[in-house]
Amino acid sequence: MATENIIAALDIGTTKIVCLVGEMDDEQRIYVIGHGEAPAEGLKRGIVVDMEKTVGSIRRAVDDAQMISGTEIDRVTAGIAGEHIRSINSHGVIAVSRSDQEITAHDVRRAIDAARAVAIPVDRETIHVIPQNFSVDDQGGIKDPVGMSGVRLELEAHIVTASVTSAKNIYRALERCHLSVDHMVLESLALSQVLLTDSELELGVIVVDVGGDITNMSVFYDGAIRYTGVISLGAKNVTSDIAIGLRTSVDQAERLKTTHGAAVASMADPEEMVTVAGAVGRPDREVSRNVLASIIEPRMEEIFSLVMREIKKVGITDRLAAGIVLAGGGSLLPGAVELAEQIFDMQVRTGRIERIEHIPDELDSVRYATVHGLLRYGFQHEPLPGGKRGRVRSLLKRFENWITRRF
Ligand SMILES: Nc1ncnc2c1ncn2[C@@H]1O[C@H](COP(=O)(O)OP(=O)(O)OP(=O)(O)O)[C@@H](O)[C@H]1O
Ligand SMILES: [Mg+2]
Repeated sequence: MATENIIAALDIGTTKIVCLVGEMDDEQRIYVIGHGEAPAEGLKRGIVVDMEKTVGSIRRAVDDAQMISGTEIDRVTAGIAGEHIRSINSHGVIAVSRSDQEITAHDVRRAIDAARAVAIPVDRETIHVIPQNFSVDDQGGIKDPVGMSGVRLELEAHIVTASVTSAKNIYRALERCHLSVDHMVLESLALSQVLLTDSELELGVIVVDVGGDITNMSVFYDGAIRYTGVISLGAKNVTSDIAIGLRTSVDQAERLKTTHGAAVASMADPEEMVTVAGAVGRPDREVSRNVLASIIEPRMEEIFSLVMREIKKVGITDRLAAGIVLAGGGSLLPGAVELAEQIFDMQVRTGRIERIEHIPDELDSVRYATVHGLLRYGFQHEPLPGGKRGRVRSLLKRFENWITRRF
């Protein structure tokens, strides 16, 4: 558990960068006390392609969060996602060290290190080693073996790796913003902190996060993360399909999608017309919502079908009794749940942020679930050793100046 009662989280998404400052009270309730958001410039599919722009975007989000919360942010719990993330399941075995055969926390750490020792290519960096199950001698399915008695301790673990270059560039961008990293957290793991109930985690569930450039999927059952994957398509592909299909600008297409779009054509009225601003020099036109939805549907169907194909490939469809939880901006399209139900043939719900006591209204959307999850993760885990502790200072003076400037 973090010892500070105020910490910051940073979600570096493919469309937006969001920084949250949260405070935890004595009853361990979390309150969001400030936030900042900036368009994600300089990043493509989770990879830094322009360092200056990335630094500028992070800075903007963090500066606003500092001003609103009246705190100074010098450390963050940051999210990592993107096509460069890979995950494997690994196995570690150790002999219990104490002569009386009682298993200690030290043995657990050794088992985790043994699982971590799996051959990871030199161009990849391990981000997480997440225990799934322990076995003591031949008894399996143990969640916490400390205090038990045995000779041999085995561990099944989920290992998440990132490309060294991609991770380094994220660290470098944060360093350039004078931010140290308390934790670098897989975004899917962060989502599970605020979107999933304990029974979903046990029964088996997939979280499908339809973001801008990419769709992240993660599978949980028997209380632990089991599989993670990335599809290289997201809600921005839907926008470009609309721009091409209706011969309009990307900005117009984005507006049409978010205000009038639907993921299922049969749910959109063919009689209800919307205005499409013509591209340069062309007049405005009217199209029906049904036409708009029939451009959106095939792309959303493709995204969900690719997720389904991957789930089938790993052979875990029978472990998913709790079905699907949708997240990310792409899941806000009306009809997304119905379309997903058809394709997955499972129960589907849109995620709702839980376990955060106070969320400003404008942040209470599944689009922001990742950053809330990162905040919760930051409070639940002791900061990594090395480097100084977060210094969170009241900056009421600066806040006053900012208020005067803005209003
Ligand atoms: N109300 C809405 N209806 C439909 N689509 C929406 C809505 N709000 C946002 N979106 C879409 O969601 C996408 C962005 O999703 P999100 O904010 O989850 O992405 P991100 O976190 O920046 O990216 P990623 O998770 O891929 O790194 C955009 O393409 C946007 O058009
Ligand atoms: Mg996201």
